[in-house]
Amino acid sequence: MEKTKDSGKLLPIREHDIELNRPMEVQPLPVQSRRSSFSRMCYLTMILMLLLLGLILTSMYVYRYFSITGSSSTYSENLFHCGVIYQDHSYSQLKEQMELHEDVRIYLEEDYEQINIPMPHFGESDPADIIHDFQRGLTAYHDIALDKCYVIELNTTIVMPPQSFWELLINVKKGVYLPQTYIIQEEMIVTEHVTDMDQLGSFIYHLCRGKETYRLKRRTSRRHIHRRAAESCHHIRHFENTFVVDTAICQKL
Ligand SMILES: *[C@@H]1O[C@H](CO)[C@@H](O)[C@H](O)[C@H]1NC(C)=O
Repeated sequence: MEKTKDSGKLLPIREHDIELNRPMEVQPLPVQSRRSSFSRMCYLTMILMLLLLGLILTSMYVYRYFSITGSSSTYSENLFHCGVIYQDHSYSQLKEQMELHEDVRIYLEEDYEQINIPMPHFGESDPADIIHDFQRGLTAYHDIALDKCYVIELNTTIVMPPQSFWELLINVKKGVYLPQTYIIQEEMIVTEHVTDMDQLGSFIYHLCRGKETYRLKRRTSRRHIHRRAAESCHHIRHFENTFVVDTAICQKL
């Protein structure tokens, strides 16, 4: 009894379902296929977009990787341990063969050179750090023995600009030494004390901050060099060209 009732109740429901389903199954077929082709299109475009994104990200990564390693490799190529042999006739009439060593760091983008002179063997020069800032047009000598800083206008006839100096050093890199060369002398006089360090630019600022810093003036007449007794001069020997420069920094006593 219950079964027939149930089946009797269920049957019309099923029939009703079927009747309802039939038009839904038959009619929406083209819509569903349209929908599925539409979703397939969506998937395809999604996949294409993802592939494109992946490609973009990969190329960005590759670009960054290579630009980083590229710059680090040029960074290591910007540090040079240099040695030069030169004829020195400043202390005696006899020409003496001398050796000068320095470390050179060239910053092409920032347009400056940093030179470190280690303690030389014969005391012919003070150990020093030198910055040639081509943007500011300034040179700074940090005399390490005195722990004092000296600033003067950059002399572009003595100091090669970063790109040219870099090319010179690359060219002589195969041999450690520059071809044998000569020395020129220049003499500077200590003038006023620098209090406003900011005007020196960030590179020289970082070299000279916390140190007594003075301006230098170039001495043009060099006739009386050996007569001046009321002065003490410290020499810094360096090169940023094809010759060596002996810079005497003189202060009145
Ligand atoms: C630069 O150095 C050269 C060679 O020592 C010198 O003749 C010239 O006067 C200097 N120029 C300046 C502007 O100091």
